[in-house]
Amino acid sequence: MTFAASSPGNIFLCGEHAVVYGYPAITCSVECRTRVRLTPLDAPDIRIHSETCGTIEAELDGGTVRPRTDNPELSVFLDLLSTLPLPTGLEAHITSDIPLKSGMSSSTAVLCSFLAACSDAFDLGIRPQAYYERLLPIQRNIHGGKASGSEIFSSSMGGFHHIQRDGDRVRARRLGELDLDIIIADTGVFAPTFLTVGYHVPSLIDRKKEQVFEVFEAIGAVTERMQDAVARGDRQRIGELMDRNQLLLSALGVSHPKLDDCIAEARDAGALGAKLSGSGWGGIMFALVEADTRDAVRAALERTRARIIATTIGGQGTRKEE
Ligand code: MEV
Repeated sequence: MTFAASSPGNIFLCGEHAVVYGYPAITCSVECRTRVRLTPLDAPDIRIHSETCGTIEAELDGGTVRPRTDNPELSVFLDLLSTLPLPTGLEAHITSDIPLKSGMSSSTAVLCSFLAACSDAFDLGIRPQAYYERLLPIQRNIHGGKASGSEIFSSSMGGFHHIQRDGDRVRARRLGELDLDIIIADTGVFAPTFLTVGYHVPSLIDRKKEQVFEVFEAIGAVTERMQDAVARGDRQRIGELMDRNQLLLSALGVSHPKLDDCIAEARDAGALGAKLSGSGWGGIMFALVEADTRDAVRAALERTRARIIATTIGGQGTRKEE
């Protein structure tokens, strides 16, 4: 029998980077999904195939997962399997609508789908509420030693969340349904998260701690104001706050010339606000639009040759699939 699950990607309405250091952020799920189909095997073999990253093989030796082949992109799944009480081996197939290393947290979404499929296949009873704790250590490794885990929460639970870390715990509050129309554009510049989260920002903190934490404070203030704007449904203000957050991310040095190009074009074409999302140095940006500016903003972004990702936000978290 085969078990399947899917999970959404996500974006940060505001607060990325600062959230790693205990400041609040607002995330929302993006209806680009990763899917995992998993079949338990009558053998200790483990085979994981990804449409984009190839295959990794391992075997279950008592309770230990022993790799048979090497694949740095897929070894996280073996790390995850090592934490689970697996009775047998398995074969899994991974597919994804989320571009890799784009700032939409494809790695988190696929880990959530994989955990859901394992839990279902082996009757482990792991609910999405527990994914944060289980996946945070793995996400820390992926991010180069530091991670807020915000995306785990967003992918597993879906919707819009105000998220704040408190040590190893997370406080997350669902923000209800938000009527926001966005356009996402992928710059195509690969941006592994560990470059900014594990290397650049910590190196800035070593040298300019006070200034960096002033920027984090200011980002935290943007997030609190964003929360009010979101509660009032004030799209104009949400756009202004996105712009302010983008300025602060630029001050941290995590933007990129192509992101700046796309953001400027989107604003000139009438977007209410535009910013990068996630770790920066490439990946995606998104623009907040209204019905009468949507086409112009989309056309302006297309002219930058970034890839438009047509999708909606705020949908379901991890779910079983047929
Ligand atoms: C990366 O997608 C988001 C960051 O805030 C890192 C994190 O929250 O772990 C930059």
